[in-house]
Amino acid sequence: AMIGKGEHRHFMLKEIYEQPQVIGDTLNAFVQATTGRITLPDLPFDIAAIPRVTVVACGTAFYAGMVAKYWLEQVARVPVELDIASEFRYREAPMPEGGLALFISQSGETLDTLEALRYAKRQGQHILSVINVGESTIARESHAVLGTLAGPEIGVASTKAFTTQLTVLACFALAMARARGAITAEQEAAISAALREVPARAVDVLNHDERLRVLAHEVSEARDALYLGRGTSYPIALEGALKLKEISYIHAEGYAAGEMKHGPIALIDEDVPIIALAPNDALFEKTASNIMEAAARGGKVLLLSDAPGVERMRDKVRWTVTLPTVHPFVSPILYAIPMQLLAYHTAVIKGTDVDQPRNLAKSVTVE
Ligand code: AGP
Repeated sequence: AMIGKGEHRHFMLKEIYEQPQVIGDTLNAFVQATTGRITLPDLPFDIAAIPRVTVVACGTAFYAGMVAKYWLEQVARVPVELDIASEFRYREAPMPEGGLALFISQSGETLDTLEALRYAKRQGQHILSVINVGESTIARESHAVLGTLAGPEIGVASTKAFTTQLTVLACFALAMARARGAITAEQEAAISAALREVPARAVDVLNHDERLRVLAHEVSEARDALYLGRGTSYPIALEGALKLKEISYIHAEGYAAGEMKHGPIALIDEDVPIIALAPNDALFEKTASNIMEAAARGGKVLLLSDAPGVERMRDKVRWTVTLPTVHPFVSPILYAIPMQLLAYHTAVIKGTDVDQPRNLAKSVTVE
């Protein structure tokens, strides 16, 4: 069937707005109706016995994998290796038998990811993929597939595929944590409750659209932008920078906030907006002090945090966006949305081709 943009000006904006729905659909596939428990379909390997997980993907899917690394290590206590597919497939990494190789791809056709999968298979790994297009080569060549129910994604800039990937990976991490006895029943209940709340909180986040459109005018005047975060906000900072680069053509870098003083702080002046992601989690104070270092050097900071974080930092930063207070485990899913909106509005202001940016293909099936 023909897919239209509906009331939206671009596919990208339509797809951003679909997120509460498709995150909910994706989640429902894992939530047991009667108990509310998050479960996985039967897998052809035992997740409790996996000695090591290797996560491989490209682009935005790679950043989803990076969030998954933090989640899996933290809650499931399993060692995780992570790489981009174009590096992984050639670096001849030794992979101990019986490990799990996890591939993430919207299209299921990305050539480097597919070749990395074939390498991992030759290395005796169990192959699990998180895929949006069920009838794809990567899905076919995997031992098991966990589907994202994002529906067709037309905009070249990935949005709803990313947040549904995170949703699946969160469920996977939680199920693995339980299977390995790595979390208590209380911790599991708290995280699954937080996950079930994500669609409703995503609606709250979308309510900041107009504010982000106004802030996009500031970003649209910059030549460079810096995105900062720690923990699971670090991959979201990388994803925010990628979104801005690919559709607005503004140079952007994502950095781990704590790494800033090792070099990039030299870039800071009034012309480089700093987008700081700082949910009020265990790392908040650490990020806050990095933000103050940047502000002290003339950096104009846009802080994304929840009410307590914004309250604490309001007079230190130039702009704030107050996101809902949620369990820290789910904040990367929600903080991805303002990254998308900021990039989208900046691109519209710059007049670029939002859905079909120059030089890019939706699915990279060549080397
Ligand atoms: C995301 O906005 C990009 N267009 C790109 O990085 C994309 O995520 C990457 O090419 C991976 O594609 P896949 O998920 O279809 O494998």
